[in-house]
Amino acid sequence: MVTSTRAAFLSFTALMVLCLTATLARGGEYAEVTDNGYGAVATVQPRATEAAMNAYAAGGNAVDAAVAAALTLGVVDGHNSGIGGGLFAVVHWSDGRVEAIDGREMAPAAAHRDMYVREGEYRPELSKRGPLAVGIPGSVAALDYMMEKGGKASLARHLNAAADLAENGFAIDGIFARRLKRHTEDLSAYPGTAAIFLDAQGQPWPVGHRLKQPDLAKTYRAIAEKGGSYFYGGGFAQTVGQWMEHNGGLITREDFADYELIRRRPVVSEYRGYSVYGFPPPSSGGVHVAQMLNILEGYDLSALSEANRYHLLAEVMKLAFADRAYWLGDPAFAKVPKGLISEAYAQTLRARLSLEKTTTVPDYSTPPKAQEELFGKHTTHIATADKDGNWVAITSTVNTNFGSKVVVPGTGVVLNNQMDDFSAQPGEPNAYGLIGAEANSIAPGKRPLSSMSPTVLTREGKPVLTLGAAGGPTIITQVLQTLINHIDLGMGLEDAMRMARVHHQWRPNELFVEKTLVDPIREALKEKGHSLRQLGDYGSTQAIGLDEQGHFVSVAEPRLEERNRVE
Ligand code: GLY
Repeated sequence: MVTSTRAAFLSFTALMVLCLTATLARGGEYAEVTDNGYGAVATVQPRATEAAMNAYAAGGNAVDAAVAAALTLGVVDGHNSGIGGGLFAVVHWSDGRVEAIDGREMAPAAAHRDMYVREGEYRPELSKRGPLAVGIPGSVAALDYMMEKGGKASLARHLNAAADLAENGFAIDGIFARRLKRHTEDLSAYPGTAAIFLDAQGQPWPVGHRLKQPDLAKTYRAIAEKGGSYFYGGGFAQTVGQWMEHNGGLITREDFADYELIRRRPVVSEYRGYSVYGFPPPSSGGVHVAQMLNILEGYDLSALSEANRYHLLAEVMKLAFADRAYWLGDPAFAKVPKGLISEAYAQTLRARLSLEKTTTVPDYSTPPKAQEELFGKHTTHIATADKDGNWVAITSTVNTNFGSKVVVPGTGVVLNNQMDDFSAQPGEPNAYGLIGAEANSIAPGKRPLSSMSPTVLTREGKPVLTLGAAGGPTIITQVLQTLINHIDLGMGLEDAMRMARVHHQWRPNELFVEKTLVDPIREALKEKGHSLRQLGDYGSTQAIGLDEQGHFVSVAEPRLEERNRVE
């Protein structure tokens, strides 16, 4: 485990930036660019965006901004992400290297494939809620590493700033209040959780309530003071281990000490002159975004009718998700073929598609050299970038809303339910309806398969776009559609994100469409054989690109404002 002992510092240059931007930093919006054009940020929460802007104002770079935003999201948006969960980051460092940082949760040493079976019966709720749902969180290790490697300030500085906010409190917004209301019953099952998120009568806090989280502040400050070892073996690990022992969980203090941050090579593919850097297994995101782009590169998408384009997207998604269900898993345990992202395989799959009608995909397909060439060994997305060449894409999650719903008393930390991302019983759907196979079965120390798709694009060796999304398996298809709309259809990032989205994940055999998809296209899709299911609006993509003058364009999910409206 990486520990942070470095003292905070402000270099002369940083001080100059501070002087330039201190009075210019603004808050209160989702996506911002510093007034001197040095840095940009996009998050789902104005307070997190403000924290990132403050980090820039204090002389920080895009790494500082991303870490500050991530820690703040754990305070103001803890139903989605926080230090009780995990993250994947793709970072284009200022020296030009691109790295995939794996802070995914790990299964505890005592985990086993039948841990959700009781008296011969699979009990799906056990991987979704409560102590057995929790994996060893990786976010602290990942954020610590990022700061060590490329931040200008220290992790401690960002932790203390977020701790101030946790102590002073913040007004609950519409999205947070609705989630509290929806999950009141589950939250009330755990006293440590109810004490934070519900009032004395067990009712959820309403919009506008000032939520103070002194225990979370204490945990943040302890990590700031003692380093990551407080979390991975010190007081935090001990408290959680003891609670687990008394409440039927498997996680021990030793599991925390055994947590391993992994630095991986990103999945790299080429698409119409761009190099696309995605996250490798145990995420399925990078592989399947690359696989789908490879197939789509064989078409002139801008020349297709809108209906044909949506049809093609659906078909490609179906093929990719069928493969996902069979091949994908933690590469330390499963043989994930590199051929999934080969041109030859894309050609084979393309040959199966028709623009006239939907194809039946009964099963996964087999890429070339499937046994030989293998990948080595409710969620939120943060995008930041700076003029020094740091471009950051972090997707961070506790899995579904409020994760396992467990807050161990005294810690203030919402613990994830990432164990549900394993195929808890191969063949049984998880919380997202995703089916998995042996490749993603449970084993001690293994990482559950993810859909998180933090992505960075370069062109002629220079970073030009960072993006990613939240929304379970739709993350992969959101990233795909933003890229297609932006690159193939030439749309600005905001328009690219506003376009009606579709999603197909092979099983169920249904095409999910957003309410804004117009009737003539729906009719055309039905005529081609698609079975449609409407979703209101979904997903949450954040992206930063460049305009023609090379200025940052920072866009947070356009659907957010509407969603956050208080009825
Ligand atoms: N927990 C959602 C994902 O990692 O895909």
